Amino acid sequence: MTSLIEKLNHTVAVIKEYYNQKPVAGIVLGSGLGNFKENMTVECEIPYEDIPHFPVSTVEGHSGKLIFGKMAGKTVVCMAGRFHFYEGYSSTDVSFPIRVMKFLGIETLLLSNAAGGMNPAFAVGDLMIINDHISLFAHNPLLGPNEAALGPRFPDMSEPYSVELINIAQQVAAAHSIPVFEGVYVGVTGPTFETKAEYKMLHILGADAVGMSTVQEVIVARHMDLPVFAISVITDLGIREENNIITHQEVLEAAAAAEPKMTAIFKGIIAAL
Ligand code: HPA
Repeated sequence: MTSLIEKLNHTVAVIKEYYNQKPVAGIVLGSGLGNFKENMTVECEIPYEDIPHFPVSTVEGHSGKLIFGKMAGKTVVCMAGRFHFYEGYSSTDVSFPIRVMKFLGIETLLLSNAAGGMNPAFAVGDLMIINDHISLFAHNPLLGPNEAALGPRFPDMSEPYSVELINIAQQVAAAHSIPVFEGVYVGVTGPTFETKAEYKMLHILGADAVGMSTVQEVIVARHMDLPVFAISVITDLGIREENNIITHQEVLEAAAAAEPKMTAIFKGIIAAL
């Protein structure tokens, strides 16, 4: 059986045949946030199906490409489309591309997602910098034998989101007059949106926003000691009036509308790296 490290080395060797510059940052684009590449000088695009050991994204709104290029003068790699646990992938599959980007040389990971707001101060279209998370995923991606060459058996999670990167993001947001909240993201499996009772419970548990991605990627990044910044676009409100039905279409539209604000923050962070 091929080990995880052998798979990573194989994947990285194939990617380097397409593009051989070391990216300083890796970016993951959430649902409806796929236009980010308009802000990059794109140098190479590799469809996921051409990358060995990569799962293939199935969700509408995810284009499924690894994009290399320049942003703010730095070399970056961007995942347009991510893998979700609800698609049927294992937690190891979902987080595999994060390990690949680390093996390609990234020193910082920037994640974005669409999330449901539960903090009553939030409105659709707001941005929330994630300063902590609660993982309610069925599977931690580090379950199973530990690859000591990748990271420790029992990783510390006292600061999953780099305070230094959060401070940079706050300065960038202030400089661009972009209002941002900070808060706790709870990761759930989906694919159902939450019931009213579930939104209420998740808020009582201490979460400000809920989504179906990100936490497994963060766990794997922290396992490898990779600094993480993550931001949620609030695409719907969970704490809501009667008959407020949430649709995937509404999530995609709200994310697309908020994308320029998120892009400005990512660009500012990359410029500061
Ligand atoms: N719940 C879970 N995931 C989500 C939501 C939500 O309300 N909005 C966007 N992703």
